[in-house]
Amino acid sequence: MTTALVTGASTGIGAVYADRLAARGHDLVLVARDTGRLDALAARLAAEHGVKTQVITADLTDPAQLAGVQDRLRGGSPVDLLINNAGATLSDGFDGVDGARLEWLIRLNVTAPTLLAHAVIPGMLARGAGAIVNLSSVIGLAPEISTGIYGATKAYMLTFSHALTAEFGEKGIYVQAVLPAATRTEIWERSGRDVNQIPGVMEVDDLVDAALVGFDRREAVTIPPLPDAASWEAFEAARHAMLPGFRNSTPAARYRV
Ligand SMILES: NC(=O)c1ccc[n+]([C@@H]2O[C@H](COP(=O)([O-])OP(=O)(O)OC[C@H]3O[C@@H](n4cnc5c(N)ncnc54)[C@H](OP(=O)(O)O)[C@@H]3O)[C@@H](O)[C@H]2O)c1
Repeated sequence: MTTALVTGASTGIGAVYADRLAARGHDLVLVARDTGRLDALAARLAAEHGVKTQVITADLTDPAQLAGVQDRLRGGSPVDLLINNAGATLSDGFDGVDGARLEWLIRLNVTAPTLLAHAVIPGMLARGAGAIVNLSSVIGLAPEISTGIYGATKAYMLTFSHALTAEFGEKGIYVQAVLPAATRTEIWERSGRDVNQIPGVMEVDDLVDAALVGFDRREAVTIPPLPDAASWEAFEAARHAMLPGFRNSTPAARYRV
């Protein structure tokens, strides 16, 4: 029996991950702010699947509460799978938003998942095994179709995943970046938008089930709505083809004065 810690497990994508992982026999640590919802989910999953569940109520934007989750990842029974899922978006454009809200979003979407991965990796390295799933977004590849910094926070999650794979992939740690497109969850109403006005919304169960297919295949990057895997592979190939050019010690001819 292995243990998975899921952030943002009280609803949406995180709650479906918790459900699917319990069905696979994982014990669970469920993290979010809404204790009532977490307790209800934990009780249901324990009853239906016979797994052990632990609830940690934490606002991941609060450093002291985040530290409590980091402590759980460093101590207690080993956590073999971290689902870095908790996240949010802002509906305002960059110039219309308060600076404190920008900082809040970076704490939730960037700082928290980074520090949670940092806390869990030493134990995984010691055991020579573990997995981390980072919820990115297609907006990380297409920031033009959103406003503000949401796309940038999700691009971080993609690049962060690549970096972790490069550093730890050969040491037994599997890292997956999941890039959903619009998915039917509360994230829309939480940022003041009506999901029914958004075209092409995926159902959350379909999204998580597809992401888990990618997980089982040990994909580095899983983009459930993308019909043609070859387009992602061509994008990655183009990125890798540039790498030798980054080692040149002189500016490219077009920049010479
Ligand atoms: N839905 C989409 O269209 C979509 C598309 C691409 C990527 N994503 C990504 O998928 C992930 C999950 O999104 P979702 O759609 O499932 O969102 P959601 O339905 O709004 O759920 C967000 C989860 O994060 C938790 N959370 C929010 N703020 C928190 C905080 N300060 N501290 C701790 N937990 C917090 C929420 O629980 P509490 O309120 O109980 O704390 C909830 O469990 C996010 O990273 C999001 O960026 C979503």
